[in-house]
Amino acid sequence: YQQQARFPDGFLWGASTSAYQVEGAWDKDGKGPSVVDMLSHPPGTADFRVASDHYHRVEEDVALMAQMGLKAYRFSIAWSRVIPDGDGVVNPDGLAFYHRLIDALTRHGITPIVTLYHFDLPWALELKGGWLNRKTGEAFVRYARLLFSEYADKAPLWLTINEQNTMILHPGAIGVPADRALPDKRSLYQQNHHMMLAQAQIFALCHREFPGLRIGPAINTTSMYAESCRPEDAIAAHNWETLRCWSFMDVAVHGRYNALAWAYMRDRGLAPEMQPEDALILQQGNPDFIAINYYSTATIAASRGDGGDVAPRAGDQQIMLGEEGVYRPAENPWVGKTPYGWVVDPVGLRLTLRKVCERYGLPILISENGMGAPDKLEHDGTVNDDYRIAFLDAHIAQMRLAIADGVELMGYCPWAAIDVVSTHQGYAKRYGFIYVDRGEDDLKSLHRVRKRSFWWYKDLIAQNGNTD
Ligand code: BG6
Repeated sequence: YQQQARFPDGFLWGASTSAYQVEGAWDKDGKGPSVVDMLSHPPGTADFRVASDHYHRVEEDVALMAQMGLKAYRFSIAWSRVIPDGDGVVNPDGLAFYHRLIDALTRHGITPIVTLYHFDLPWALELKGGWLNRKTGEAFVRYARLLFSEYADKAPLWLTINEQNTMILHPGAIGVPADRALPDKRSLYQQNHHMMLAQAQIFALCHREFPGLRIGPAINTTSMYAESCRPEDAIAAHNWETLRCWSFMDVAVHGRYNALAWAYMRDRGLAPEMQPEDALILQQGNPDFIAINYYSTATIAASRGDGGDVAPRAGDQQIMLGEEGVYRPAENPWVGKTPYGWVVDPVGLRLTLRKVCERYGLPILISENGMGAPDKLEHDGTVNDDYRIAFLDAHIAQMRLAIADGVELMGYCPWAAIDVVSTHQGYAKRYGFIYVDRGEDDLKSLHRVRKRSFWWYKDLIAQNGNTD
C-alpha cells in the first residue's frame, strides 16, 4: 500500500475557475443578473462585477494556460449570460462568448470541462422562488439541452451542479442577497430534491440525445476522522460524513436517497415532498464519472448535547458548526492549516479517493483542490508562492498512491487557473497559478503575472506528473 503508480497517458492536468468569480462583465452584452450579483459584500472586499476581467481577456488567458501546458480547463457557464432571465429568450452574445472560449481552448489542445451551474442562479428565477420552485428544475434542464446542442461537438466533459452540498448545507458560505434571510432547513432539503431531479433528468437526456458526452456531479467531498476511538465519536464522524457527502452522491449515482440521511430528515420533519413520479426520475439518471472538490478533512466527536455543539469556531472554513445530538467539530493535532484556517491534509485526499472509488466504482475527476493565501507581488514583478507549490505537490503525491490503490483517476483541476474573487475574501485570498494585478476596490492594471507555481506546474505537466 505504499507503491507509487505512474500517472496514465491522457491524464487531464488542468485547472479550474467559475464564471462569476473570473469573468466580470456582469451586465455586458445582454447578460442578466444572477443571485451572486445581488449579494452584499463585506466592506473593502471586491465584488464580482469586474472580477478578473476574463470576459475581455479570454484569448490572453487561454494562451497563458496553454503556455503552462494545461491539458484541461474546467470553467462554468453563467446561466444568466446565455438565458438572461433563466427560462426565456436565449442571448446569442452569451452563447458566442463561450464559443470563443471553447474554440480558443480547442486551438491550444486544451480539453474543456464545462460546469453547467456554479452558484449563480439567474436572479429572475430566484424571484420566482428559486430552487424551491419545481419549475426552476425544468428551466435548468432546458438550459442544459441548449448548452449540449451548442457545444457538444467540441466539449466532451460536463459537470452538472458545483457543490450542491455546500449550497444546501451552508447557504451562508455562498452568501445571501442583501435584505433576504437564509432559507430554513426544510426548504433547503426541498430545494435539494428539486436539484436532484433536474440533475437526474440532465444525466438521462445527455446520454439519450448526446451519447458522445460524459457527465458527472461535482460535490465537495471529504473524509471525517473520529476524534478518538470512542465508539460514539466514530458514529458522530460517520453521521457527518454521510450527511455532508454520501447523502448527496448516493442520490446522484444510485438514484435513491441514502437510508441514514432519509431517517435523519424524516425524524426532524425535513424530508422533501416527493411526487409519485420522482422515484423513477431519480433512477433514470446515471453519471459517467464523479467529480470531487477536495480541500480538507474534518475531525468529529460525539455531540455533548449541552448546547455548545453549534458554536462556530474562528478561522474554520469548512463551516464547522456541529449539530446537537448528531456531531461536534473537534481539533486534529496531526494536520496543519492554511493562513485562512483551512485544514491541510494531503493524505486525506488519498483516503477520500479510496472511499469514493469503493462506494461508486466510477472514474474520478478532482475538479477542485488548492490553497488560498495572500500572495504578494514583489517589486521585481515575481510572485513566489512556494507554499502553494508545497501544498499541490503533497496532494499530487497522494494521488499517485491512490492510483496505485486502484482508483481510476481521470484528472486534476486545482483551484484556480488564475486568481479569482474568493467567495468572501475578495482578492486578499488568492488561489491562481496566474496573478491578477488588482486590489479590492482598486482595479489597477488587471495585468497577468505568472507565479512561481505556474512554472512549477508547467514542468510537472511536461513530465506527466511522474517527476521521479
Ligand atoms: C469551492 C468553490 O468550494 O471553494 C469555489 O467551488 C470557491 O467557488 C472555492 O472559490 C474556494 O473558496 P473561497 O471561499 O476561498 O473562495
